Amino acid sequence: MAIKKVMVIGAGQMGAGIAQVCAQSGFEVLLNDRDKDALQAGINGIEKLLTRNVEKDRLTEEEKAATLGRLSLSNTLKDAASCDLVIEAVVENMDVKTAVFRELDMYTPKHTILASNTSSLPITEIAAETKRPDQVIGMHFMNPVPVMKLIEIIRGLQTSDETYEAIQAMSLQLSKIPVEVKDFPGFVSNRILMPMINEAIYTVYEGVATPKDVDQVMKLGMNHPMGPLTLADFIGLDTCLYIMEVLHEGFGDSKYRPCPLLRQYVKAGWLGKKTGKGFYEYR
Ligand code: NAI
Repeated sequence: MAIKKVMVIGAGQMGAGIAQVCAQSGFEVLLNDRDKDALQAGINGIEKLLTRNVEKDRLTEEEKAATLGRLSLSNTLKDAASCDLVIEAVVENMDVKTAVFRELDMYTPKHTILASNTSSLPITEIAAETKRPDQVIGMHFMNPVPVMKLIEIIRGLQTSDETYEAIQAMSLQLSKIPVEVKDFPGFVSNRILMPMINEAIYTVYEGVATPKDVDQVMKLGMNHPMGPLTLADFIGLDTCLYIMEVLHEGFGDSKYRPCPLLRQYVKAGWLGKKTGKGFYEYR
């Protein structure tokens, strides 16, 4: 089955990036958000990025116009009826996601594949909310989507080979590199990244080093482009805590316990870059 038209649900930082990459790669895209302002902000952001690419000679004016021509906006999930693939990128909340999938299951034709960009929630559980669990799959893009090459493709317990192969082919059409992963807490990316970030927070909590020095060690010593605490601020400390909790609960292993300092920062509303304060201050 050829994928021609895609709906992306959620016009936030991930959804807008996914919509942009799909449209740039020749797919017809419907960008959906239930919040009109978020939808407008999403499309404005895409336009701005495309303009910057034209200025930097990475894109021609014609390619920019063609990309925008393939993008339309939607504020009802009923519009998914015309799509071959839906990629959901709404907030990381199981109740919100399952409600979206139940609706999509009603509105979309039989052949439509339903994908989630979740960074930690079980695909198998989301799939079980639909009558087509074999056509539900995880497509975990990395942030910022237009720049990062990887897509972790997560196979739920019931995901079929046909669905997997269609999404693998689509990922290559997006000029991304897909990696197949089974549906276990944190998949591969966050199972490895988040405990490293959590351990970096423990070193600060235990007074071993300052945030700046922890980041310096990992940048200069391990050649990481960004220190783990800078990265944590960028991802959002609430998201980091949420994923550590998913790992802790999912594996039942104390090695995944979230650092008390991470909990305290989240309780204080210090969520990183998006709130102006985390391990660093942002103006
Ligand atoms: P965000 O908060 O920037 O955007 C979420 C958008 O979804 C908002 O615009 C909101 O209005 C919309 N939304 C919420 N409920 C909706 C509904 N029922 N129908 C339609 N729209 C709805 O969130 P972000 O960061 O883009 O994350 C989205 C998903 O991507 C989450 O599952 C997250 O875990 C995952 N993710 C995030 C990464 C990151 O670095 N931020 C990286 C990889 C995955």
